[in-house]
Amino acid sequence: MIIGNITGSDVKIMHLNPFFYEKLVRPKFLTSALKKTVEKEFILDNKSVLDFGCGTGSNAKLFDPTKYLGFDVDSGRIALAKKLYPGYKFKVLKTDSLSSEKKQFDIIFISATIHHISDSLFKKYLKDFKKVLKPKGRIIIIEPVFCKETRFNNWIMTLFDDGKYIRYEKQYLDLFGKDFSVVVHKRFKKCIVYNEIFFSASKKEP
Ligand SMILES: C[S@@+](CC[C@H](N)C(=O)[O-])C[C@H]1O[C@@H](n2cnc3c(N)ncnc32)[C@H](O)[C@@H]1O
Repeated sequence: MIIGNITGSDVKIMHLNPFFYEKLVRPKFLTSALKKTVEKEFILDNKSVLDFGCGTGSNAKLFDPTKYLGFDVDSGRIALAKKLYPGYKFKVLKTDSLSSEKKQFDIIFISATIHHISDSLFKKYLKDFKKVLKPKGRIIIIEPVFCKETRFNNWIMTLFDDGKYIRYEKQYLDLFGKDFSVVVHKRFKKCIVYNEIFFSASKKEP
């Protein structure tokens, strides 16, 4: 199976320079906070992990280096990730990267990436996630989310975020379709104005 044309107009390389992203948007204290949030729900030690949309590798330290693989479409971000997190494995995501992946993973980790991806492209990725996720594996997702009650935050997120596909909670959950079960673990605020949702998806038993 082949993912659609992921190097085509559907894919937008982020404007923010990878170095500034790593230093300003993803300082270490945010990674520690994220680790605490995720570890309340999941055991991460000793788990094989595919970090989808890994960017500059900001989340790599949550995981065991020998069991980690980060994928991103942006070769500049992957080059910086390799420098910053030696010991971890990173690859540029190409059209057939996931479909030709031999391994299956305990966790597919997706942080702040789905809101850069259209529904149609995400559905193509999802078919490959199904293939590379172990039967009892989990897709763990953290994304910015619109809320009807916080119109000001929605406006700020639309204005400042590079991702053009920030969604409402139901829209994110619906993306996973009938082959996955989804659970919302937490709704929270990041840096006061960002609404975030932490949820996970697992394959339904055949
Ligand atoms: C806001 S950054 C998040 C990076 C990292 N996951 C984090 O939590 O800091 C969004 C990432 O999604 C990647 N991205 C955008 N479109 C993508 C696509 N179609 N497939 C895979 N990754 C994509 C970008 O290159 C970027 O590294």
